[in-house]
Amino acid sequence: MVSNEAIVSVFKKPSVFKNIETLYPEYVPLKLPHRENQLKQLAEIFRPLILSPGNVFIRVMMVGGVGVGKTATAKVFGKEIKLIAAEHGLDLRYVHINCHRDRTLYEVVSEVVRQVGAPIPIRGLSAREMLLALLNYLEKHNIFTIVTLDEFNYFIATEGNDAVYFLIRIYDEYSDVKKRISYIFISRNISALNMLDPTTESYILRHTIRFDPYTSDELFDILRYRRDLAFYEGTVDDDILRYIAEHKGVNKGGDGNARSALEALLLAGQAADYEGSQKVKIEHVRKALGLVHPDIVRISDDLSYLQLHELILLKAIIRSLKNREVHFVKIGDVEEEYRYLCQFYNVKPRSHTQIYEYVNNLKYMGIIEARVSGKGFRGRTTLISISVPLEELERKVDELISLKRGMTKNIT
Ligand SMILES: Nc1ncnc2c1ncn2[C@@H]1O[C@H](COP(=O)(O)OP(=O)(O)OP(=O)(O)O)[C@@H](O)[C@H]1O
Ligand SMILES: [Mg+2]
Repeated sequence: MVSNEAIVSVFKKPSVFKNIETLYPEYVPLKLPHRENQLKQLAEIFRPLILSPGNVFIRVMMVGGVGVGKTATAKVFGKEIKLIAAEHGLDLRYVHINCHRDRTLYEVVSEVVRQVGAPIPIRGLSAREMLLALLNYLEKHNIFTIVTLDEFNYFIATEGNDAVYFLIRIYDEYSDVKKRISYIFISRNISALNMLDPTTESYILRHTIRFDPYTSDELFDILRYRRDLAFYEGTVDDDILRYIAEHKGVNKGGDGNARSALEALLLAGQAADYEGSQKVKIEHVRKALGLVHPDIVRISDDLSYLQLHELILLKAIIRSLKNREVHFVKIGDVEEEYRYLCQFYNVKPRSHTQIYEYVNNLKYMGIIEARVSGKGFRGRTTLISISVPLEELERKVDELISLKRGMTKNIT
């Protein structure tokens, strides 16, 4: 069998990831470190559903900021309680609806019907008719459901009080029937409920569970757990996780968002793979966290191809720009700085012509801009400027200079 080597090699390329998909946003982990308390509260609230099914109409509101585990907690809980119900001989179905996607009453009800798997024609019925048909189906087959309305604020904003009222007061008219639908509402903030009338609001807020942003210690544990699922052993050290956690933890000025912490870990792993590195390094994380300016990312590959003297010249340009606090410097000033640096690094400066060639090369690579001065300058001279952040660039250039100097030392 003949295959194209170039393509095959990409698939064979070693990777730091063992199961990359366990870092994708849609993956629901088995465990949720530091959400035990919220899971316990849910279990308490839903206890009657297992112990005396149908007697109590249960609803709970979960509130917390971005990426703090609300959706994941609801899904993990749904999976667990289904199993527990089954042990008690109950047919319990868990339904998860994202109201950002399904935000009208009609869409929500037909999605519940679909996820329950009830053979009810979705077309031709009103939302009300569909819901009644569903209740009949549940009754007939002795099924119970927990319906999570995630991003519930979208539903409220789209459909308003009446639709919410319709959903949650379904059992008011039939007080003697079994309560076969319970609700988990999820929203980032409670103020979304302001639009509702006070009775509806207090009906929803019967129980609330709060999700606080994660601290860096908590994020560290979460990252460690998810790292072990996603990466080969030994490819991501704890200090990498610590670095991300310190950056995102709410107690360290971050937003305590697990999603963005996990995304940084994923991106760092991909950066390591891209470079063919067998380990994820801090520099990959810095890139992933967006700490590195995108322009620096763009040119940093090119920088590593520069020769020692080109790097010294680049440093001379950076320093001249920084010292004079101007947007462009004259090549004469750069040369002066360059000669000074050569003395400092103890290397012999290159000729004037050679320096011109370096300038052209750096310009060609898009690292610097160079143009010949127009009016306003005595004589004509080349003006040089750099548009990427100088501090970061200089740090990068320093790293490469010491690398190159170390290498030449070894050779000679
Ligand atoms: N305690 C945790 N342990 C492991 N993974 C977690 C934990 N908390 C959150 N995550 C992960 O972080 C990501 C974000 O969590 P989730 O989607 O539940 O946040 P959310 O609170 O619903 O945010 P949003 O309001 O933006 O929808 C998911 O990938 C989830 O698996
Ligand atoms: Mg969510």
